[in-house]
Amino acid sequence: MIRKCLFPAAGYGTRFLPATKAMPKEMLPIVNKPLIQYAVEEARDAGLQQMAIVTGRGKRALEDHFDISFELEHQIRGTDKEKFLAGTRELIDTCSFSYTRQVEMKGLGHAILSGRSLIGDEPFAVVLADDLCLNLEGDGVLAQMLKLYAQYRCSIVAIQEVPREQTQKYGVIAGEQIREGLYRVDSMVEKPLPEEAPSNLAIIGRYILTPDIFDLIADTEPGKGGEIQITDALMKQARNGCVLAYKFKGRRFDCGSAKGYVEATNFCFEHLHQSDL
Ligand code: G1P
Repeated sequence: MIRKCLFPAAGYGTRFLPATKAMPKEMLPIVNKPLIQYAVEEARDAGLQQMAIVTGRGKRALEDHFDISFELEHQIRGTDKEKFLAGTRELIDTCSFSYTRQVEMKGLGHAILSGRSLIGDEPFAVVLADDLCLNLEGDGVLAQMLKLYAQYRCSIVAIQEVPREQTQKYGVIAGEQIREGLYRVDSMVEKPLPEEAPSNLAIIGRYILTPDIFDLIADTEPGKGGEIQITDALMKQARNGCVLAYKFKGRRFDCGSAKGYVEATNFCFEHLHQSDL
């Protein structure tokens, strides 16, 4: 079964400058918790315990976040502030964290390939922390996808319907619907113009990947934007065998944009955090 989750987190976060000048974008807080922690919690809640984070220059704060802060914890021991660190501490105690650096920014496919030594030869999940996905009604998105993987044993991407005019921001799929909300992918294009998009079903930052994806990425030429695209490698996998696309249950916030970030903050303040603040 799947044990590992990869978090590509080397990107510069240029859309959030100047906030991200000296701080990783994955450390931006939604209310009082950084995006990367929401992502790790989603993976942990799906039963994954080995977190593999692809970092880059200027990302040290990510490693420090998932480590003990001895002085700080000593300071607040026995006070009513202790509860604020309890969730982070629980992750540190129950999950393992390993890191590797992506030394050049050559796209999401390249970032995932950079994580190969942390993953090895087994299927794994991928979470992009700036796509914050929440499901108040039940399982998180990754847990939903893992259930499907147990049944189908192939790569799976999360999808969502988006307005046609936004297809240029996403990988877009088309395929045959094999059951309610589940498609067998037969075409997949990275950031197509609306008139060239095969549908309005956009890939969201959650993937389950079988390990043959690594060789496929290694063989993939730079595509859209001159970057090595996971979408192109997945398209090869779809041609050779099977890739599924799953319309997940829950809400997704694009926290790489100011609008999505503010919406996520309001949503979390209203629904998740009252008891912690
Ligand atoms: C990446 C992928 C794209 C996907 C998106 C989801 O793009 O390349 O296919 O739709 O994540 O957030 P990025 O947003 O990193 O440009």
